[in-house]
Amino acid sequence: MDKILILDFGSQTTQLIGRRIRDLGVYTEILPGDTVLSDAVLSGTAGSTLRGIILSGSPESVYTAEGSVPDQKVYTLGLPLLGICYGLQRMTADHGGLVEPLPKREYGRIGVTIRSEGEAAGEGIVRRFLTGFDKTISLEKIVEGSAISNTARPGDFSFTAWMSHGDTLTKLAPGFQEYGVSDTGYPAVLAHDEKPWFGLQFHPEVTHTERGSEILAAFVFGVCGCKKSWTMEQYVEEVRASLQNRVGTNPVLLLISGGVDSTVAGALLLKTLKADQVHLMYMDTGLMRKDETKTVKTALERLGAKHLHIIYCEEEFLGALKGLDDPEAKRKAIGDLFITIQEREVARLGLPDSYFLAQGTLYTDLIESGKGVGKKAHLIKSHHNVGSPLVDAKRKAGRIIEPLDRLYKDEVRRLGRILGIDEEVVRRHPFPGPGLAVRILGEVTREKCDILRDADAIYIEELKNRLSPAGERLYDEIWQAFAVLLPIRSVGVAGDVRKYGWVLALRAIVSADGMTADVYPFPVKDLLEISTRITNTVKDIGRVTYDISSKPPATIEWE
Ligand code: XMP
Repeated sequence: MDKILILDFGSQTTQLIGRRIRDLGVYTEILPGDTVLSDAVLSGTAGSTLRGIILSGSPESVYTAEGSVPDQKVYTLGLPLLGICYGLQRMTADHGGLVEPLPKREYGRIGVTIRSEGEAAGEGIVRRFLTGFDKTISLEKIVEGSAISNTARPGDFSFTAWMSHGDTLTKLAPGFQEYGVSDTGYPAVLAHDEKPWFGLQFHPEVTHTERGSEILAAFVFGVCGCKKSWTMEQYVEEVRASLQNRVGTNPVLLLISGGVDSTVAGALLLKTLKADQVHLMYMDTGLMRKDETKTVKTALERLGAKHLHIIYCEEEFLGALKGLDDPEAKRKAIGDLFITIQEREVARLGLPDSYFLAQGTLYTDLIESGKGVGKKAHLIKSHHNVGSPLVDAKRKAGRIIEPLDRLYKDEVRRLGRILGIDEEVVRRHPFPGPGLAVRILGEVTREKCDILRDADAIYIEELKNRLSPAGERLYDEIWQAFAVLLPIRSVGVAGDVRKYGWVLALRAIVSADGMTADVYPFPVKDLLEISTRITNTVKDIGRVTYDISSKPPATIEWE
């Protein structure tokens, strides 16, 4: 399987580069930008062949101490390199060019023109790279390889690119040629005369860049010569073989949260191992969505689960949350109790020491928690599923199984479908580990959980029943939607009587992976009708608002 390695210098969009290339059918891995490129690191996942390296963007500048530097071996491997934004500036600074601050930061959509004249027309692999910019060539043709030509002459290609940079190249490094320039007059597309090295000042991974995927495809297929070889079907075969190999006849315990990830992990175990080997444990913390436990139980039993351990521990969780209103204190109380109950219940199962612990960890979980790549990536939240004494001990003993840890969320959904999981479960919106506790601001009580559960269930049911102007269910157009119970009451009238009801906020966002998010632009009519139904049905709610903040600067959850 061909692979592209991405060196991450801390850009918010590094993961998007990985996702876009995987969508093209080529496997990607992300490592911190300053990783020592030993032979073992370069060979990476068994069965993969490294074909090219991408140097990502970064919030830092190359001329400051914070700007991290790649292992200089990257320039001696003879592999194709693509520098994106900081990555390009890094290559320039590392080879005798000059990078300096711009008088004014460039941010947003900016036009770029590829020059067709004389020298700038390029040849050989430069031509193959420039194929990506040619508006007359489709993505399919580039992926198939049928558009990749060494000889075709380019026209003048202009397109809109998305940029975010405070520095620019003021002197190109020797050997580099400028092939494209931004409307603001700065170098935007570069290639080396002799080496297979390329640079872009803009971000092809961001959807606002016209032909972004084509440009990445031209690098991956045209320059690196990758074959399309990353498919979910192949991944399933590979993972099942390696699971059977590692686990043998030992028991496996999977901690299930009710979300898509752990359900898919459970399905993978059940389809690979004997049902008797697979123990599934699920904690009903009382902080779950309406009917969550029932839904999870049905889905897992349908997949053939034999040992499903449901732990009812609502009393314990609500007890631990009593009197707490600070979000971090609530998170800590939940995290600690999770660990206590987990250890107690696992001990109660009496599995032999040789058991394996499985988790539905995704590639992005490792990135966000700083375990995989994210030394540089901003630590936005702590996933309690990545570290607990039990998990750490099992990890040390080499007995952790994370069969989804190379996948992005949408890949997990695809895998879920292949494994025959119900479409409703596969399409389910993400739900945070600490559950409703992060959606009830201030102290959590059973009464508030019940109010929020009822309101949220109505909201979600409405989204499933309503169609967007494009004819899709609103629920499927939205990446994540939920209700939040605010810690304030506001005055209203019920009949002729003034009453104080709780204020509810509705949230709905669109996102690629939760790292950034835009507000879902609801048709007003839907919002009004949903609000009316909630206030008419859930008597304790007096007022409904809609959250119109994107991420950043807000986060998706309110906490
Ligand atoms: P934020 O609020 O950080 O959320 O913008 C990004 C995504 O992560 C989910 N989220 C969590 N998931 N444990 C989880 O498993 C958590 O502690 C947690 N906190 C937030 C959130 O729902 C959104 O999808």
